[in-house]
Amino acid sequence: MVVSTIKRLYNAFFPSTSLTVQSTETASRPLKFGILGAAAIAPPALIIPAKTHPEVVVYAVAARDVKRAEVYAQKHGIEKFYGGAEGYQKLLDDPEVEVVYNPLPNGLHYEWTMKALAAGKHVLLEKPAADTAEETRQMFELAEKKNLVLMEAFHYRFHPAIQRVKAIIDSGELGRLKSIENKLTTPAGFIKKDDIRFNLSLGGGSLMDMGCYTLNCLRYLSGTNPTQVLTAVASPSTSDSKVDRSMTATFDLPNDVFGSITCDLGVPWRFGLIPALPQVSSTVECEGGQVHIMNFVLPTLYHTIKVTKKKSGNDGKTETETRIEQVYNFADGKMEGKGEDWWLTYRYQLEAFVDKIKGRTPQTWVSKEDSVANMEWIERVYAKSGLGARPKSTFTLN
Ligand SMILES: *[C@@H]1O[C@H](CO)[C@@H](O)[C@H](O)[C@H]1NC(C)=O
Repeated sequence: MVVSTIKRLYNAFFPSTSLTVQSTETASRPLKFGILGAAAIAPPALIIPAKTHPEVVVYAVAARDVKRAEVYAQKHGIEKFYGGAEGYQKLLDDPEVEVVYNPLPNGLHYEWTMKALAAGKHVLLEKPAADTAEETRQMFELAEKKNLVLMEAFHYRFHPAIQRVKAIIDSGELGRLKSIENKLTTPAGFIKKDDIRFNLSLGGGSLMDMGCYTLNCLRYLSGTNPTQVLTAVASPSTSDSKVDRSMTATFDLPNDVFGSITCDLGVPWRFGLIPALPQVSSTVECEGGQVHIMNFVLPTLYHTIKVTKKKSGNDGKTETETRIEQVYNFADGKMEGKGEDWWLTYRYQLEAFVDKIKGRTPQTWVSKEDSVANMEWIERVYAKSGLGARPKSTFTLN
């Protein structure tokens, strides 16, 4: 198992182009992608996955600082770089760029996605989609009007591991769904105090950054939206009382289902000495048992799906039966779809995103309605917590 894990991780992060699944002859003309910002997320989220996708070329990068753009372009073998105050716009004005990847700070998602769509580019947009649901709706409406593909990059949804969890719930094997509890936390110290995640005007907050996953996963696994926020308790960050370092919220969902989410950008160390372990889990209680996934966000690294089934024993006492599943590709989960054990969630996502642009049917999709609803419930949790919504962008498209 250790050897297979190491091999999987090696191929995930250092894929050789010989691992490319489709032969270059059958693949259609590659799409040229441009990246807004020399972001640290772009290598795992796009640049590395693109290496094994024959229809993707990461062609351009733009950064405010031209030197930074140049160094980044060189390091990642990107042909074009743009910099300076007009750098982002120059990238959008480049007719060679067909698709824009927008991993800018949350507060800039709306402005630059609107500008990219206006320039006629498809957009792969980092989560959360924007600071507000209304801005999210507007971006998707513009994409529809211009007949362009826009998708919020909820990469974990494209991985077969979470899809397997949903299939177990939907199969009825464990009986009626009762509750879902999602957690995504990291110990204090990993995210620095001056990180953009703590900056309100840039759309900061734990609910925005990590909570958007927990909420999305709650809505995905339950197959529905909450009906109300029951409680929402934030721990403010030390730098800004309107920015949540952590957020815990509970929800009513249809059919008497209870939901809860916890996200934390810096769990204080125990006694100030022992770092808390990161938590990346979803626990689903059903009448006939439980399914628990550990690491639903980056399952390629390692994950377990633990299924505990209740059954009545001989003497009438309830016994349980437990099995562990690991689903690194669709075949493992007895599902349909392309992919390899070493594919990162982002690689699965890129496959679907390109399929959509090319007019093929993606294995799955994160829809406009899904993204708008996720932002609506983020706003409702912020309202309930007393912190209030993140500030709307001041940008308007002419
Ligand atoms: C938040 O970001 C904005 C825009 O980059 C910046 O002007 C401001 O100083 C930042 N605020 C804090 C508290 O760092």
